[in-house]
Amino acid sequence: MSDSYLSFVSSPWGRWFAQTVGLPQPLLLQRHRSGQQGLVNPVIVAGAGRLGSEVQRIFSATDTVTAQPATIMAPSTVKAQGAVFDASEIADLKQLDELYVFFHANARRLGQHARVVVLGTTPELCKDLPQAIAQRALEGLVRSLAKELRRAITVQLIYVAPGAERTLESSLRFFLSRRSAYVSGQVVRLEKAVDQPVDIDWEKPFNGRRVLVTGASRGIGLAIAQVLARDGAQVVCVDVPQAQALLQQAADSVGGMALALDITAADAAQKLQAHIREHGAFDVVVHNAGITRDKTIAKMTEVAWRSVLAVNLEAPLQLSTALLEGQGLRPGGRIVCVSSISGIAGNLGQSNYATSKAGVIGLAQGLAPRAATQQVTVNAVAPGFIETQMTAKIPLMIREAGRRMNSLSQGGQPIDVAETIAWLAHPASGGVNGQVVRVCGQSLLGA
Ligand SMILES: NC(=O)c1ccc[n+]([C@@H]2O[C@H](COP(=O)([O-])OP(=O)(O)OC[C@H]3O[C@@H](n4cnc5c(N)ncnc54)[C@H](O)[C@@H]3O)[C@@H](O)[C@H]2O)c1
Repeated sequence: MSDSYLSFVSSPWGRWFAQTVGLPQPLLLQRHRSGQQGLVNPVIVAGAGRLGSEVQRIFSATDTVTAQPATIMAPSTVKAQGAVFDASEIADLKQLDELYVFFHANARRLGQHARVVVLGTTPELCKDLPQAIAQRALEGLVRSLAKELRRAITVQLIYVAPGAERTLESSLRFFLSRRSAYVSGQVVRLEKAVDQPVDIDWEKPFNGRRVLVTGASRGIGLAIAQVLARDGAQVVCVDVPQAQALLQQAADSVGGMALALDITAADAAQKLQAHIREHGAFDVVVHNAGITRDKTIAKMTEVAWRSVLAVNLEAPLQLSTALLEGQGLRPGGRIVCVSSISGIAGNLGQSNYATSKAGVIGLAQGLAPRAATQQVTVNAVAPGFIETQMTAKIPLMIREAGRRMNSLSQGGQPIDVAETIAWLAHPASGGVNGQVVRVCGQSLLGA
């Protein structure tokens, strides 16, 4: 669905008009395109933590990033496209001043669409109290910068557990790229990887990997199938039998396979096992299929309540359990669930949906440590307002509010959710487990 206000202010006349009358002027987000170099460049690198050498190693491996020391000003015409501040060894409150000094001096050096990443040490794992407090304080800084830097700049915090330094690469590459255009103000915790390191082809990381995507015939599910296929995956697209024609079209468009299956059917897990016996186990499963049946609870029928919980929560739980128990996921496997910011903040008229999507977060967090014993990770994305047929049904004024009430002042596109899922499902993301990442442009809902 199109955002006509964003198109309007992206035209020269619209920009002039919005400027003259003082209307908000969101920048059309720049997204990753195939063939484009992965990371933004140049990047300012600052801070003196334990992750500095790993950041340098990653940059030299990419061969594209020019790291600029914070002390050397770039020529005035060259804006930095990214900044990484290694705050992992900030050990007390006084040292937090280093972040003020850096961002105070460098905020204006960042170009439009720049990517900012602050690296920290997981507060719960800090040795002493002053360090735990200082590290926890980074969250407030990052979430505030994400709100105030504007100009489509995104800001994230990655906490790296001691000993998990080598798991940083896939996350740093994602957050310093155009793939994370609609993700901002997020906090991610990295642990030691659940699986063994493998050789990574950063261009086609999913080469030779089998991926299952539910609800893949349209919207976000179709975008997930497209992005994972673009990155080398063989995709099995699942959708309800009623959507067979669209499903086949979607599967054909990604060179994949169609599997017509109602994930709430009593025999859904058996059918999936039968598919696995014939075609082999999966490396990635994305629980994307979802429905809404909105009504305030006093007016909501029991059928509307039950059907939403069945599709959005019970089916992902049953299928995940069956896959893990039946060796349906290979070691190094990934489960990614699609939650929603409604599951974080709650939403008027969506008690069934919000219950199911909060449950999905519980599923990801609860299953993660158990799945880790099988070298499988479980994570969730929580999209905000994404331009799809689902959000096209929302009444105009509520739709417009949903679109604008975030730090990037626009809705996201299905590909924004898909790129985030591709990062969580990445073979090098074994250190990201039990995380919930919002793809919402830092929506005010539940912020
Ligand atoms: N669009 C948004 O703004 C937004 C925001 C937050 C979360 N989400 C979530 O993202 C996911 C995808 O949303 P979308 O906007 O693309 O929705 P959509 O309605 O366009 O697509 C959902 C797909 O799931 C399929 N599906 C529904 N029930 C199924 C079942 N029982 N078995 C198999 N397939 C089934 C549908 O046929 C459809 O193809 C959903 O889980 C949704 O809750 C969307």
